Parts: sequence; C-alpha cells; structure tokens
Amino acid sequence: PVQYLADYRPYPFTLSETRLDITLAPTGTRVRAEIDMQPKDARNAADLMLDGGAGLRLGSLTIDGAAPDPAFVRREGEVLTIGAAALPRTAFTLATEVEIDPEANTAFEGLYLSNGIFCTQCEAEGFRHITFYPDRPDVMTTFRVTLRSDLPVLLSNGNPVASGAGWAEWHDPWPKPCYLFALVAGELVAVRGSFTTRSGREVALNVWVRPGDEDRADFALVSLIKSMRWDEEVYGREYDLEVFNIVTVDDFNMGAMENKGLNIFNSKLVLASPETATDADYERIEAVIAHEYFHNWTGNRITCRDWFQLCLKEGLTVFRDQQFTSDMRSAAVKRIEDVQVLRARQFREDQGPLAHPPRPDRFEEINNFYTATVYEKGAEVIGMLKRLVGDEGYARALDLYFARHDGDAATIEDWLKVFEDATGRDLGQFKRWYTDAGTPVVTMTEEWQDGTLALHLRQETPPTPGQPDKPARVIPLAMGLIGPNGDEVLPTTVLELTEPRQSFRFEALGARPVVSMLRGFSAPVMLRRQLDDSARAFLLAHDTDAFARWDAGRDLALSALAAGASGEAGAGGAYVAAIGRLLADEGIDAAFRALCLQLPSEEEVATHLHADRTVPDPAAIHAAREALARDLAEAHEPVLAEIYTRLRSEGPYSPGATASADRALRLAALHLLSRIDGGERAEILFGTAGNMTERMGALAALVRLGRAERALAAMRDEFGSNRLVMDKWFSVQVMAAPPETAVAIARELAARPDFDWKNPNRFRALMGALAANHPAFHAADGSGYDFTADWLMRMDPVNPQIAARMSSAFETWVRYDADRRARARQALERIAALESLSRNSSEMVSRMIAAG
Ligand code: ARG
Ligand code: ZN
Repeated sequence: PVQYLADYRPYPFTLSETRLDITLAPTGTRVRAEIDMQPKDARNAADLMLDGGAGLRLGSLTIDGAAPDPAFVRREGEVLTIGAAALPRTAFTLATEVEIDPEANTAFEGLYLSNGIFCTQCEAEGFRHITFYPDRPDVMTTFRVTLRSDLPVLLSNGNPVASGAGWAEWHDPWPKPCYLFALVAGELVAVRGSFTTRSGREVALNVWVRPGDEDRADFALVSLIKSMRWDEEVYGREYDLEVFNIVTVDDFNMGAMENKGLNIFNSKLVLASPETATDADYERIEAVIAHEYFHNWTGNRITCRDWFQLCLKEGLTVFRDQQFTSDMRSAAVKRIEDVQVLRARQFREDQGPLAHPPRPDRFEEINNFYTATVYEKGAEVIGMLKRLVGDEGYARALDLYFARHDGDAATIEDWLKVFEDATGRDLGQFKRWYTDAGTPVVTMTEEWQDGTLALHLRQETPPTPGQPDKPARVIPLAMGLIGPNGDEVLPTTVLELTEPRQSFRFEALGARPVVSMLRGFSAPVMLRRQLDDSARAFLLAHDTDAFARWDAGRDLALSALAAGASGEAGAGGAYVAAIGRLLADEGIDAAFRALCLQLPSEEEVATHLHADRTVPDPAAIHAAREALARDLAEAHEPVLAEIYTRLRSEGPYSPGATASADRALRLAALHLLSRIDGGERAEILFGTAGNMTERMGALAALVRLGRAERALAAMRDEFGSNRLVMDKWFSVQVMAAPPETAVAIARELAARPDFDWKNPNRFRALMGALAANHPAFHAADGSGYDFTADWLMRMDPVNPQIAARMSSAFETWVRYDADRRARARQALERIAALESLSRNSSEMVSRMIAAG
C-alpha cells in the first residue's frame, strides 16, 4: 500500500514514559513493555493502534493491570488495535509481553545477533519488530530500560542508572521517538576517552569493540572529540548526557545509526590502522563519526514529524558533516569530492525511473528512500539556502531553529519558516527544491559587444516520474570573469536565476573575458554552455575558484571521452596538453593535481552522454577511457615518473590531508604509468608499501592488467581472517577487472566458502563492485544483469533492505540500446515474478520496470 504525505494525522495519544524490561536470549528474548499514555481528546475516543511485526509472539496484554475484553482486541497484518470502548478516557498504562527470536533475524532490522553481539537497528521502522508500539517519529517519550543477560556489557540509551550481576538499568531523560531506541549486549571492550563540554559537563566516551580490535579504535575516538568540539564552536551545540557510547558491529545494513547516546556503527566505519585501512577509509570514518554525533541535535533533539521529512535531518546533517570535513581538511578538495559523488549517484538517480524529490510525497517502503537525493541533494539544497541568505542569515536562522523547535518533530515547512522569519526572505519559490524532482539544466549563451558582455540563461528541468511539468526554480549561480591575460576582472558574484529565461549584463569591460560559471558548484544543476577547448584549458590554468578550475578540466576530459566513444581518434589533445601544464606546476597543491589526473568514471561519461540524448555504448566508453589514459601516460611519462619516485612515503603513516594528498597524486601517477610499464611499478609497490592505501592502489592496477594473481594470494595469506580487508580483496578483483572477465571472476568469487553473502559488507563488496564496473555490469550478453538478478532473488527473502538497495544497479537500464534493454527488462521481470517478493524489492523493481 502506498503512503501519502497528504494523509498525515497526529497520533491520538500522548506518551509520558516507556519502560522496557528485556531478558535476552538468542532464540527467545522476552520483552516486557509498559507504556504510560493518555488520549489527546477525552471526548472523542480513538482506537489505540500499535505497530507490531509478524515475528512478535504476544504473551500478555493488560490495560492498568487488567486484560481487555478480547472482543475489542484485533491483530491484523502489522497492526494491533484495541478498540476505544476498552480504553480509559484518562491516563493509563498499557503493558505487553512478547517473545522474539533475534537469531532468526537475518534482515538486521529490530533486534538481531551479529557474531554473538545482540544489537538493534530501529530506523526507520525496526522497533515494531521488538515490541508493540506506535512506531512513528512524532510519538516521543522518555525511556527507562532494564536489560537482563549474562553477557558482560549491557548498553542502552541515555545514562546508566544501576547495574548488578546479569542486569543493567538505563534511563534516557530526553523524549525520543522509538526509532532512536537501541540496545547492545555482548563481550565487548571499550576504548575510553572523555570530553568536557563548554558548560563544564564531563562526558565519558566509549568506543566498544570486540576484544583484539582495541588498537584500531583510536582514530574514531579522536574524531568524536573533534566533532564534539566543532559542534560547540560552529553551531553552539553541546552534548546533553553523561555518556556517549559507540559500538561496532560486523553486520549492519547501512553505515551507522545515531541512536540517542548509543551510536551503532558498521565496523568498517570505526576500525582503522595504517595496515588495514586506506586514506579514503580514514576520511570516511572521521566524517561518519561526525555525522552521527551531529544528529544528536539535528535528528534527535529535533526530529522529523513523519518519514516524508527525512531530508530535514539527513540533508542538514550531511551538510554539517561536509562543513566539518572542510574545516578539518581542505575545503576545496572536499567540495570537489562531494560534487563527484553527487554527479555520480544523485544525477544518475534523477535521470532515471527512481527519481524523486528530496521530500517525497509518497512511498511504499521508506527504507527505499535513504537515497542520494534525500541525503546529498538534501545537503546541496541547504548549501544554496545558505548562499542566498548569507552566512550571517544562515547562523541566525539556525539559532532560531534550535530555539524554536528543540523537542519537536518538525517538517520542511517549519525549517523554511525559520529562515523566512530570521531573514525576511520569501522562500515560496525556493521550496520547489524540496518538492520537485529532477536536475535542472541551465543553458548559457554569451553575447559580446562594445565592452558589454551579456549572459543569456535558460533553465529547464526534464520531466520525472509523476512530475511532467517543472516550474522555474531559484538557482544561485556563483560566477566571476577572467580577463584575457588571466587576471580576475570580476570576483565571485551570485546571480539569482528565478525565471525560465533571464539575462545579465556586465558593462565597461576592456576586453572580452572568459566566464567562470557555477563557482563552488553553487547549485546542483547541469550547466550547458558553448565553450571551446582552448577556453576550458584557459580556465583550468587561470580560474581563481578551485572547483570551477577543476571542473574546466573535467569538461575537457568529458568532451574528449565523448568524442572518443563515438570513434573520433585523438580527441583528447587539448586535455592532454592542459594536464601537462598542470603537472609541471609545483605551485599547485598535490591534492588538486591528483583530482585533475583522475579521469571521469565510465558511469559519469554515460550520464553525460544520456543528458545529451546519446545512447551510451559501454564498451566504446571503456575503450575511449583506456585510450585517453594511455595517451596521458605516453605524453607525460617523465613528469609522472618523477612524481611517482619523489612522493615515496617516508616516516610513520599519517592519515591527515597533506600526507594523503601526496599518496593520492602518487597513485594517480602510478595508474597512468601502469598503462605503459606493464605493471612493473605496481608489482614492486604492492610488495613494499607499508600502508593499505598504496597496497590497494597497486593491487587495483595489477588487477586491471590481469596480473594480480600473486598479489591476491599474498593478501589473502596475510589478511584471511580480517573481514574488512577481505572485503576489499573481494571488491577490487571485480571492480578493476577487465570487462571481458569481470562477470566470470564475480561468479568464481561468489562460490568461495568465505563469500559470506548474508553479511551486508561482503555482499556489497562483490555485487556493488560488479555494478560499479560499468562495461561488465552492462555486458552485451546480459551476463552482468543475470548474475545480479540471481543474487538479488537469493538475498531478498533473507535481507530485503540489502536486496532492494542493490537493485538500484538497474536504475539506468532505459538509457541503453534495445538489446541491452530487453535483457535488463527480462532480469527485472524475473525478480518481479519471485514468489513473496518483499515490499522493498517489489517497489524498487516495479518503479524501474514502469520506466521502460
Ligand atoms: N540515520 C542513519 C544515518 O543516516 C541511517 C540509518 C538508516 N537505516 C535504514 N535501515 N534505513 O546516519
Ligand atoms: Zn544521517
């Protein structure tokens, strides 16, 4: 059944406290719940409706200690209803006792076991698999929890109250919805720290890991302390409990979860050592620790009224973690990385059958909406808002947001109203960014006459499912002008595009400047402009805005690849020459040069071609990209070799921005050089590097060349028992494999006994890698589609969330040629026909099929 935003109704009862008494056992956990509640309207009696999954075995149910007349109690599907006639008109206590089976829970939603550790995941609707409850984010109350088990560590939300042999009691004084409930029980050890808040509260910090993993948790702890300080300094937000616990588990459907005072993390986002984690892993750990911590205010203290408002907490929290990373590392590099992710994942989503607005107005399964659009585009929308109202306006609005809505379950309307009230700006048109799907295309033409430059801008947003017509939006376009000698003649200025067509004029210019447009990627749009290769190369050399400068190089590369893919030989001349000038310039920082040396991914080329109404040919794109990489290597071998040799890592490993930038540049050089040295350097580097970043970089190069056998065996011997490293081992073999062999390799790997596919990380390592190998997934014979569909069908009954998320590998299927489309459709229809297909996969697959 489809749920609609328009159908929102407040819950007819107020809760004043929830008490849980949970006796943990692998197959028979007993949950006793007491909920103090009261009807909101004593005169108009409402039925009491509680959510409860099919797995709850109901023992007893009482109201104020007495069993209600069974005639008024009904259990239908996932809802338990107690008729109004059986309820008091004033405050009462509902008590239930249920039994659940955590061991049988392979969906990792609700209470489950991960390698002997009891843990929970309740967002979005997991709590209903623990007990009967109003499982919706606008029902908030304080929780008192008693856990009973022989396991040594027993954790829940809030502050510890008391404990004894075999039990522990916790109290969370902050009212919260049940999706923020958590418990953990297991044999765990803590890496401990502490933090004193600005107002003097001493907070005990614990990162709980499995014994033996203690030496890989320090970085997470340090990241947490940095996050706590940053949120005080930048947003004035303090922590509000005596303890902050982080727990790592190996089986987790997503990255991590912001449960109040008890964050639970996928172990890959906590555990790191130089020997086992890459620079990218470190950066991601720092960012996700921050993200979950920041949720304490943007998500927990202020939560969402309903799940349609998910981007209220996720977009804002992503925006905040992006700001944090910019402050901890290089702001320019972070911006470029974020745009790369947005274009690769969100633009692709917007182009296809799964397109939806940051605030959707309908869904069947909310877990299908934890998407790049809700998260990353949700963050972009806030970045635009900040640019439109200015930094001060943003700060005032945020202060008002926290003051006005602390303790609330809020909406996007509340959020926008705060900005209107704090800044006086009308955000009526701006709101379309939240309600309308699709990526606007901004087309710019220039007119030059007598010292006046006119920019003619047009905006259009292609139709998306259910939204055929798109009115104009407010688009902040940051731009500048660069004079012919390379000097900036107009520093960054923001044009506000509000109409379908609009012109802007710049007068009294001596000579015709080059326009630097969309600086800092000031809006999530596709920019179309006529710019020849020499003007792009000019911007790459002279633009003062790091993003725009990098993007000019990106444009050059994309046009070279698009031409190459359509059979044009030697299309990359301008790009190759421009990169040569950049490489030789020691004044440019290593991180920036590394970013410029990375060619656009094949997926990105396909998205680019599709936006230009060209059917992408995966094999041709692959060949064009390989050819361009080879051209770059051949043209610049001496300087690449010099960079590679000079940037050898020396001294102890540091995951910080400077050292990782050097490694990134060195590996970018290695990847190009490996196109012409037969893999010799990569072979040596793999054997000698002291850190995982360089080992993985070298290994990927060897896999691409089909000569990784020895290196792979060595890695397996060394790390066979380290799950996180073995995930990388599975992944690289498929992701970097030549397209002709990738599906066969994936098939072989999937048959290995250590392909523990019920573990989400391991499943994603293999299947996600195949989906990311563009020419392999879209193999002309349909083998990539079939292999993926087979595994989705196997996964769906075991873990529907994981199956449904992975099914988005097919979201671009309609872009391709008729033959591929027929094969992809067949694969999707095979999934759709599966008996008792989950609601998760069924929604995804039917939306995708409908697009064909
Ligand atoms: N709120 C979490 C985060 O963004 C994501 C958890 C979502 N889990 C899920 N099963 N949908 O940090
Ligand atoms: Zn989040």
